[in-house]
Amino acid sequence: MLSRSRATQARPSEAPISPWVIHTQRSVRTLTSPATPDDIQDANALHARCSLETRFARYGAARRTLSRAEWEHLTNPDRGITWATRPAGDPAEADVVALTHLMHTEDEGVHELALLVDDSWQGQGLGSALARNVLAVARTTSVRELTLLVGSDNRRMQSILRRLGAVLPPARGTTVNIVVPVGT
Ligand SMILES: CC(C)(COP(=O)(O)OP(=O)(O)OC[C@H]1O[C@@H](n2cnc3c(N)ncnc32)[C@H](O)[C@@H]1OP(=O)(O)O)[C@@H](O)C(=O)NCCC(=O)NCCS
Repeated sequence: MLSRSRATQARPSEAPISPWVIHTQRSVRTLTSPATPDDIQDANALHARCSLETRFARYGAARRTLSRAEWEHLTNPDRGITWATRPAGDPAEADVVALTHLMHTEDEGVHELALLVDDSWQGQGLGSALARNVLAVARTTSVRELTLLVGSDNRRMQSILRRLGAVLPPARGTTVNIVVPVGT
């Protein structure tokens, strides 16, 4: 049977999703699953734990919380998909330690990627693994490009994106717009 063309393939929020199992470099097992509107408290608890520097790197502003409307947008399958990462164990007990977003843009086939990792979980390979998994999901869908606006001084995120195949444009100003081709 002929495979479906990319144009008729699923959107990311329709792709078959089972939890991603990621072991951090400190050997902690984590589970990453699509988030729902009910996860708003855990998402905001993550924001409250994050440093100003981390939140600024994510939003370009000192955001401390997400409103219910913002969270409903981020978890609305018609707008994209948000994954929540928790240490493995009882999901009702475990904190959300990372959020990963893959959101539609006005351009067909172009989705915006964003990541937020709890300060105390950074530097353990989690951000790299989450970004790799998003790219793998995108490859099974109609997404052609991932796009991100990243601080010019955000070496960690730039390193992750370079490894995913992005060619980083020369930094002009405080932010840089980075495109990751999804490829096949
Ligand atoms: C950017 C971010 C998602 C990276 O997540 P992470 O879990 O810390 O990433 P990793 O541990 O996989 O490390 C990614 C890279 O940063 C490097 N790195 C790790 N700790 C570092 C440190 N203290 N200083 C500089 N680089 C560091 C790693 O070596 C790795 O580089 P490599 O690919 O060349 O090996 C996370 O730091 C974060 O949430 N930052 C704030 C929000 C943000 O910047 N989001 C991105 C824009 S939406």
